[in-house]
Amino acid sequence: MPDFYIAPSILSADFARLGEEVTQVIAAGADWIHFDVMDNHYVPNLTFGPMVCQALKPYASVPLDVHLMVEPVDEMISAFARAGADIITFHPEASRHIDRSLSLIRDAGCQAGLVLNPATPVYVLEHVLDKLDVVLLMSVNPGFGGQQFIAQTLHKVSQVRSLLDMYYGENGRRIRLEVDGGIKADNIAAVAAAGADTFVAGSAIFGQADYAQAIAEMRQALSNVRC
Ligand code: DX5
Ligand code: ZN
Repeated sequence: MPDFYIAPSILSADFARLGEEVTQVIAAGADWIHFDVMDNHYVPNLTFGPMVCQALKPYASVPLDVHLMVEPVDEMISAFARAGADIITFHPEASRHIDRSLSLIRDAGCQAGLVLNPATPVYVLEHVLDKLDVVLLMSVNPGFGGQQFIAQTLHKVSQVRSLLDMYYGENGRRIRLEVDGGIKADNIAAVAAAGADTFVAGSAIFGQADYAQAIAEMRQALSNVRC
């Protein structure tokens, strides 16, 4: 039975009160804080950079999970590591040298991950598993919160679960499998049953008045999942 983590995405939080929002969602039971960095280049939207990450760091008593949707990535990896990121993930399409970018993250003392878009094939993981602490599968096209979960992702989750289980069998090291986009209390169990252990949720948590109740409903749904 894996440890299920819930990672609220502050993309859907009130940007005028971000510190307070982070405090509240951690009190409500968040395991990680998911921090969506968009550059209006790799994705058609613009959010926040390392200065905002640094400002939020004192509020984050749980790991800061920085999802880079930027191109190029290497400069931002260093900047976010300095700004207090604990986990840094990026999209392979946004780096000229994926292996080097992953090393930059680990060398900076952070956990490293690759993010696969809905149409990005799983084989990009194959030669870099030793450098990964997390695989993040997008279940929407990146750029916006509040989109609908792409059901096809479930097959991909199972496929990556098999790959990571095989890797664990051979190396004894667990790589987390995180899913991002359109996750809600009514589909989280299906995503977990397919093999995910970490769940990003933005609108499904910050769109509710009671964050603790929103997270509790997700945990309740997860409690019935057999792995
Ligand atoms: C989308 C972001 C997601 C987003 C998820 O590009 O990577 O993290 O915040 O939002 P919801 O949970 O509302 O789909
Ligand atoms: Zn994200």
